[in-house]
Amino acid sequence: MLSDVLLVSAPGKVILHGEHAVVHGKVALAVALNLRTFLQLQPHSSGKVSLNLPNIGIKRAWDVARLQLLDMSFLEQGDPTVPILEKLEKLKEVADFPEDCTDHERLAVLAFLYLYLCICRKQRWTAEDLELINKWAFQGEKVIHGNPSGVDNAVSTWGGALRYQQGKISSLKRPPALKILLINTKVPRSTKALVLNVRNRLLKFPKIVAPLLTSINAISLECERVLEEMATAVPAPEHYLALEELIDMNQHHLNALGVGHTSLDQLCQVTMAHGLHSKLTGAGGGGCGITLLRPDLTGPEVEAVKQALTGCGFDCWETSIGAPGVSVHTAASLDAPVWQALDGLCAGQWASSS
Ligand code: MEV
Repeated sequence: MLSDVLLVSAPGKVILHGEHAVVHGKVALAVALNLRTFLQLQPHSSGKVSLNLPNIGIKRAWDVARLQLLDMSFLEQGDPTVPILEKLEKLKEVADFPEDCTDHERLAVLAFLYLYLCICRKQRWTAEDLELINKWAFQGEKVIHGNPSGVDNAVSTWGGALRYQQGKISSLKRPPALKILLINTKVPRSTKALVLNVRNRLLKFPKIVAPLLTSINAISLECERVLEEMATAVPAPEHYLALEELIDMNQHHLNALGVGHTSLDQLCQVTMAHGLHSKLTGAGGGGCGITLLRPDLTGPEVEAVKQALTGCGFDCWETSIGAPGVSVHTAASLDAPVWQALDGLCAGQWASSS
């Protein structure tokens, strides 16, 4: 039982190289960002479990007594279990969605209810706990994306910079503190649909698409090699040049896979006009892109490109890669100014009856 407010956070992530290819068994390089999502868990005596996700406008509450009366035997507890369609259909009845609920909101609520009803909560995380968190997060991903590779939940759990291939994870030792811009085009897309489109293109044109995936694999490996060299030697302009060339090549491959979008083309053109190189990150079809910020750039130069991007209607964050993974911030270890700062930042608030 929770006795106090518990604040936890996990980092946002970007995929440097290997998105889509990773679904087909190739290597992906993924890094955790110094941009975090916070979740506040708070005991309540209201008899309700409430979910508040201010960033996506979700505020729902369920009567705990009613939840306990429902037959939940279709959900197993303990080890992470695959959220099969049949279980999710039953959960939709529990969720009791209002008529005007969008698909986006339905999926977020379903993922929450599935995990909430299945998980036994703990406050201290050992390596084993992290494995468990990662497994649960993977099941949450499945609710939303269908058939994910597992790279996204892995990098948000362990943080840092990861090489990921078919569930095998290795951490890059001392990745350089690269600065990037993370840009949200705000064009909505479905990861599930985009992953399916790539699969269909691979089935339709295997001789063309398979070499593209192999080449993306080689880009990920080359990027890993450059990052490791930067960690052992003093980073040189040649390193950044190589990283920029890899970004450009991968962006063209991703366009050839059919996951580009005019908003992403615009993003690349705008940053290129400032001498910077960008690619989509994640599923594509809109969504987010990343731009590498070389260390030689001055503050005003970075501001100018950020202004140009916000002028296109995009959201833009300057951040760095290699952040810590999922973390617990107990109330006791935080002082008042930190709480005040977090107050404005909380992306999710899960108030639980206990
Ligand atoms: C989505 O962030 C990354 C994809 O490669 C899908 C996946 O790995 O599950 C497009």
